[in-house]
Amino acid sequence: MPAAATPAGAGLPRFPIFSDLSREAFVALTGAMALRRVGEGEVVLREGDTGTSFYVAATGRLAVSKRDDRGEAVVLARLGEGDFFGEMALLSGAPRAATVIAEEPSELLEFRAEALLEIARTHPHLAASLRRFYRQRLLANAMAVSPIFRPFPRGDRKLIMERFRAREVAEGETVVREGEPSDGLYVVLDGAVEVVKRKDGGAVVVGQLREGDLFGEMSCLRKAPASASVVVRRGGTLLKLPRRDFDELVVSYPQILELVAELSEERSENLDAILSGHAQWTEDGLVLI
Ligand code: CMP
Repeated sequence: MPAAATPAGAGLPRFPIFSDLSREAFVALTGAMALRRVGEGEVVLREGDTGTSFYVAATGRLAVSKRDDRGEAVVLARLGEGDFFGEMALLSGAPRAATVIAEEPSELLEFRAEALLEIARTHPHLAASLRRFYRQRLLANAMAVSPIFRPFPRGDRKLIMERFRAREVAEGETVVREGEPSDGLYVVLDGAVEVVKRKDGGAVVVGQLREGDLFGEMSCLRKAPASASVVVRRGGTLLKLPRRDFDELVVSYPQILELVAELSEERSENLDAILSGHAQWTEDGLVLI
């Protein structure tokens, strides 16, 4: 076959995320890049770890998974040639949101965080594109792992999600105050919150919640003041379902009522156990004493 029949670059992987970069910017970026080969079954990055790199897949196939509130791994996506990952921890400073495992031998372009952040700073299109993906992935993940969305088919998950409003929160902010009425049901989209309860003139931590977890369900359900306070430990975004919308939603989706009632009962028991000194909240969760 004559050489001219093969267009220049044919057979090379395509990287849509870099398509807006000038040739110079792309060349500058490749200087900060390493080629990493991973074998089948190899973990590229693990949920909860600190993120220092960003990856683009040149070849192969990878599975992205995340633990749900029961500790079970849920597959969120499969990535292949041209797809990128590892941007979430770099953009938010939060731990890795998911685990990425190679499902077949794969070749990855690995970029140090600083190189990616520098190029994003000077290329607003690239930064906007990364942020858009970040947001979409956050929402997709909440829908896949949160007990309030998980039981439903895709279409219903979206309809339920649309009833929520996003609320940005900063570290140290009190979202729900013990003894006061709470204004709705919340889902942690991004960030981390701590549940604290007054005890003997002080305060004890009775729970720590992360992406996908719910709170405010007890007071919504019982129409009673909040049984504990919820304080933001790592700033981020919460999804809020105002009380009135909660009441309407459970008419269309009675399973939500069931789920919230179960969760509420379980948490009530845990609260009693902690307050009576039979259990303690630790970094690893609730521990019976
Ligand atoms: P990071 O949190 O740094 O590390 C895990 C990565 O998995 C995350 O960045 C995303 O790049 C990727 N990821 C998380 N959720 C999804 C998703 N729903 N679809 C595709 N990729 C995802």
